[in-house]
Amino acid sequence: MQRRLIIAIDGPAAGGKGTIALRLAERLGYVYVDTGAMYRAVAWEALRRRISLEDESALQALAESLDITFRREEQDGHVRYRVWVDGEDVSEAIRRPEVDHASSVVAQYPGVRAALVEKQRALAREGGVVMEGRDISTVVLPHADVKLFITASLAERARRRYEQRRQAGVATTLAEVQAELAERDRRDSQRRAAPMRIPEDAIVVDTTGLDVDTSLHLVWRLVRPHLTSEDGVQAQV
Ligand code: CDP
Repeated sequence: MQRRLIIAIDGPAAGGKGTIALRLAERLGYVYVDTGAMYRAVAWEALRRRISLEDESALQALAESLDITFRREEQDGHVRYRVWVDGEDVSEAIRRPEVDHASSVVAQYPGVRAALVEKQRALAREGGVVMEGRDISTVVLPHADVKLFITASLAERARRRYEQRRQAGVATTLAEVQAELAERDRRDSQRRAAPMRIPEDAIVVDTTGLDVDTSLHLVWRLVRPHLTSEDGVQAQV
């Protein structure tokens, strides 16, 4: 039986996978799931409740207890997904610079990961989903129909994140942002639980020097051959 696809997108911080995954999902009429936002939500709640980032069992209990939901919102032709935790909109809070660091710390703990992976799999059960993160192809959805690893050079990723920070009014420098990204890459790829790595069966898309439209075009060419009749008119585009 044909069904709508499961598309897994992994890659390092600020590599462009978020924007591409969202736009791909919109084009297909699929659900978009940002798993990084879930780790960020746990980290943010931990900071807020003053739970130590070293207290693995308290963090696991927190991850298990939180009700994390995504809500698609359309405004002036722009689509974004807002993140709600226990009935509160935390979309802005989870993007704070301190949460960058805290999220990659809580993401090291197997118990935290297990709790979130269960929620992530439930979101993909029906298919018709584009899910992005660090371990989607390798751990969360190993049977995904399409597996992509989207990356860019560290310098370019730092420039993009720096620009986002600047626009958000955060005082920082390019060198600082680059050092933070390098540190997070290191922690994400060297941790024992589900380290970030390029999956053997994934296609690597390097967006260094490419704008979003060009990157999306590349990704679309990779995804299109997999579309089924269930994807209806979208597949013909
Ligand atoms: O947006 P950005 O690329 O900066 O990061 P993110 O995707 O929001 O993820 C934040 C952190 O969550 C990462 O640095 C990872 O430590 C962790 N993460 C993970 O371990 N596994 C995932 N599937 C997604 C995120």
